[in-house]
Amino acid sequence: MSQQQPKPSLMSALQEFPGNVWKSIFRNPLPTNDLERSSTSFTNFFLHIHPVKVHKNTLRPGYTLGLGLISMFLFTILVVTGILLMFYYVPSTSQAYDRMLDLRGTVAFGTILRNMHRWSAHLMVAAVFMHLCRVFLTGSYKKPREFNWVVGVVLFLLTLLMSFTGYLLPWDQLAFWAITVGTAIAGYAPVIGKDIQFLLMGGSTVGQEALLRFYVLHVAVLPAVLILAIAIHFWRIRKDGGLSRPADADPTPTMDLVTITEGPKVRMDDKKTYGVQGLVRGPLTKVNNIPDNTVFSWPNLFLSELFVFVMTLSVILVLSLLFNAPLEEPVNVMHPPNPAKAPWYFLGLQEMVSYSAFWGGIGVPGVYVVLLILTPYLDRSPKGVGKWFSRDRLLANTIFITFVVANIIFVIIGTYFRGPNWAFVSPW
Ligand code: HEM
Repeated sequence: MSQQQPKPSLMSALQEFPGNVWKSIFRNPLPTNDLERSSTSFTNFFLHIHPVKVHKNTLRPGYTLGLGLISMFLFTILVVTGILLMFYYVPSTSQAYDRMLDLRGTVAFGTILRNMHRWSAHLMVAAVFMHLCRVFLTGSYKKPREFNWVVGVVLFLLTLLMSFTGYLLPWDQLAFWAITVGTAIAGYAPVIGKDIQFLLMGGSTVGQEALLRFYVLHVAVLPAVLILAIAIHFWRIRKDGGLSRPADADPTPTMDLVTITEGPKVRMDDKKTYGVQGLVRGPLTKVNNIPDNTVFSWPNLFLSELFVFVMTLSVILVLSLLFNAPLEEPVNVMHPPNPAKAPWYFLGLQEMVSYSAFWGGIGVPGVYVVLLILTPYLDRSPKGVGKWFSRDRLLANTIFITFVVANIIFVIIGTYFRGPNWAFVSPW
């Protein structure tokens, strides 16, 4: 006679209810051994994009400065606060400004919401740019990461466009004239410049059509493309073998003879790797007894990521509590401010435009973008990867830093040293 399983009582079902719900979502308890640590990484939806183990170099804060992560977290904050703002905002020239006033005056937490969105947007432009600089200065665009660098350049341009299209939405004087100047720069492109300008604005001046177009680009088209590009970016980081590291970070195996416990001496093939052994503890984790320079993502990587997230969020919260996002007078098309300035990250362009409309607005930035995209295909030397300011990359780094400094100087001049009619003024 087969033994019957005791029927679970309603009482025990109720008692076990919280635990059962928890276990149905999280299949693993908090990991206590290496097998559970790896299992936690690949059975959790949010964690499984990480490898089970990462190289120690990946976790060195001084190497990445966490800038890619910071960019990602700022974008996350932007998406969340942006969706909440969408509940109040109306992309209409007759309502947009009033909605901004409502956010400030009557909507609960409206001011902090808008502040968080605004400061995250500015910081994201800065963080993505600094991340680009770190990737360049550590030579991390080199083989096999060439394509991911190109995806990165696209991400940088998309970030600028996201910020630029959002700038118009408050429909105040600052927004209106900054975008009027910005779209005029696009108009300097040869042959198709005027068409691009018309396409962006939906007319020949910044008005209702432009507001609607910028809104749709800002809340739907650009975020969708950006999310797709970030997904490809992260996927490529995995496929390219994780983050770059110096060539000497892992000693390469030699054709040495190794002894496996008491058995005969075995000649190991240095090309061969044994994946499964990656999870085994002890000195023989890799062929030829190489010291294992990897650590489990749980908890090492995840805790660092959590730390960067908390820091990023804290900085944004503090900034948003201390400083209010600007809101000037409502749009007055008859009274342009003098000078009308583009957003700060385009002020370098505007400064160059004041010397030559075509070269400043289109020629030079166009050459920059093309050179950036071609960088990994022009610089083929495998030397100097994974180290800041490597001596092997003296020339490349010097050229790059010269361009960056020149642009920062242009932005500073445009921001602080330009007054009415774009004349040179002293800020002091
Ligand atoms: C929305 C913008 C971006 C996000 C969210 C993002 C995110 C990340 C993250 C999280 C990492 C790994 C950690 C780190 O390096 O800090 C990374 C690595 C990388 N990113 Fe980005 N990134 C962005 C833009 C860019 C840009 C503008 C470039 C260059 C033009 C770029 C090129 C790279 C490359 C080549 C790597 C691999 C670096 C290495 O192996 O050391 N990314 N990115």
